[in-house]
Amino acid sequence: MLNKVVFLGTGGTIAGTAQSDSDNVGYKAAQVGIDKLLESLPALQRALGAHLAETEQVMQVNSKDMVFAGWQLLLARVVHHLARPEVASVLITHGTDTLEETAYFLHRVVPAQLLSGKAVVITCAMRPASSAHADGPANLCDAATVAVSPLRSGVMAVCAGKVHAGVYIQKVHPYRLDPFDSGDGGPLGFVEEGEFRRVAALPEDLKGAAQAGIERLVTANCPRVEVVVSHSGSDGAIIRALQNDPINMTEPLRGIVVSGTGNGAIHEGMEVALGQARQAGILVWRTTRCAYGEVVLGSGAGTGELPAANTSAVKARIDMILALMQ
Ligand code: SIN
Repeated sequence: MLNKVVFLGTGGTIAGTAQSDSDNVGYKAAQVGIDKLLESLPALQRALGAHLAETEQVMQVNSKDMVFAGWQLLLARVVHHLARPEVASVLITHGTDTLEETAYFLHRVVPAQLLSGKAVVITCAMRPASSAHADGPANLCDAATVAVSPLRSGVMAVCAGKVHAGVYIQKVHPYRLDPFDSGDGGPLGFVEEGEFRRVAALPEDLKGAAQAGIERLVTANCPRVEVVVSHSGSDGAIIRALQNDPINMTEPLRGIVVSGTGNGAIHEGMEVALGQARQAGILVWRTTRCAYGEVVLGSGAGTGELPAANTSAVKARIDMILALMQ
């Protein structure tokens, strides 16, 4: 048993192609199917050992265009395959741009019991498949190494020899082959010479979701939650515009996550508009736009009365969507 790894293709640069093998920016993402990506990659079978590969093209998108319905589709397939007794892990190929959102979503919703002794491993590339310097093949092999390793657990992402926790990963560079960081949490480990060297464990409460009701989650409408950034000159116009957007008639705005300055601070102009939004029943959370750390709560007044999320704004948006779906 546990002799299969299911590869789910979703698109991204790892499946991208360009006119020339020296073009690493002017390519089109999400062109090559998952079957083709695995073909002619003898090192992959070495990484998988005795495990068999199975493939499924779940979608074919540039991950900048990911939508909630895409996550619902992916979640349904991940849950389906993890529930199969012979599946050791599900390995997802994904674009790097919103990989952290998909990883965080899956981390929040894939039930812990399905992850017992199994993992969801996500991988990607920063150079298209057509590039003379394509990094996808090595990332795929490293991800396969992790997917069959006895040290696998939870939702993990593998890129450039590093293994990140799905809960912590964040894209921090637009071009480098190693564009991710795990912030204060640090990476879970590294893949070296075909071996997964794990250096960190996740805290107990981060090992898997207790989220029940997968059936409802994969079919429910997504409540509209927007992210705004507080910056110099933020006078609240964006908040008023969001509330008055005609889309509100069919899909009302339910929540706003503010990516605040420093320790979750918000420009006074924007704060007034957010107060009005809250009075109109819109849920408002704040977080920090700093790349590292999280909002530190003290006993002070001011924006302290607005709930603070301890993740980045895009991840807090996922938390708010899930909270609103309860
Ligand atoms: C994408 O996110 O789908 C395109 C960019 C990338 O994969 O690096």
